Amino acid sequence: MSDNLKVIFFADLVGKPGRQALSQLCRPLKERFGADLVIANVENVAGGFGVTPEMSRKIFRYGVDVQTSGNHIWDRVDIISYIKEEDRLLRPANFPGRAPGKGSYVIDLFYHKVGVINLMGRTFMKDIDCPFRTADRELEKIGDKTKIIIVDMHAEATSEKQAMWAYLDGRVSAVIGTHTHVQTADETISEEGTAYISDVGMSGPHDSILGMKKEAALGRFLTGMPKRMSCADGDVKLCGVALEIEGETGRALSIERIKEDFNPLDMDTSENESEFNDD
Ligand SMILES: [Fe+2]
Ligand SMILES: [Fe+2]
Repeated sequence: MSDNLKVIFFADLVGKPGRQALSQLCRPLKERFGADLVIANVENVAGGFGVTPEMSRKIFRYGVDVQTSGNHIWDRVDIISYIKEEDRLLRPANFPGRAPGKGSYVIDLFYHKVGVINLMGRTFMKDIDCPFRTADRELEKIGDKTKIIIVDMHAEATSEKQAMWAYLDGRVSAVIGTHTHVQTADETISEEGTAYISDVGMSGPHDSILGMKKEAALGRFLTGMPKRMSCADGDVKLCGVALEIEGETGRALSIERIKEDFNPLDMDTSENESEFNDD
């Protein structure tokens, strides 16, 4: 039995490049960091917009244990029936009560239980339920099962992410920021033992604007008109953090950023041809 627990958290996986990088690097990185658990934010895996049931199943196969999401979770309608059945795929807990799916999950690793809570900010985003009151409610739900709790705070504003870290300080093991697709260099641990990073960054093509081809994304700014976005493909990186957590107390002991290069030419060609048919 191990006293401490190691967790890798990847975000936000974008399109086919993100899925390919994960398929090739997830297990080697898990081994390198000695990780017991892998969490990944999958809100952009379907060509940048949402996640399909088939893709979610494949991501579990690549070695991810729990999947989180954000504002793009409903982009693919077929996810609705899937999320009702698959408790390991989370949507932000603060979507109004009638939304399908759940916002938290407790995974049993036999020697430890780990809680994962998915929240979404409201600043410059959809005006959904209060993430702070929702965090209290979710902690009430799962707090008696484990002290090891990882929060995905999917938000645009750094201030709102830091506010959540302050609000949950000492009550959870880590508040991990996602959504902006740009990795920040502010990883730290509070005196109370809650790890924090404003944004883990994006796993996908970095020769892009937030994972999308530059021409269309730039065109939106230059014309103010809607442009059809599609996933870029150059300079693929897998971004995440590795956490070490004290098993008994749930206190974070370390947080380390991951930014791993991936060359699609290095793909294992024995991989089923149809594995990456979609965008
Ligand atoms: Fe995203
Ligand atoms: Fe997002």
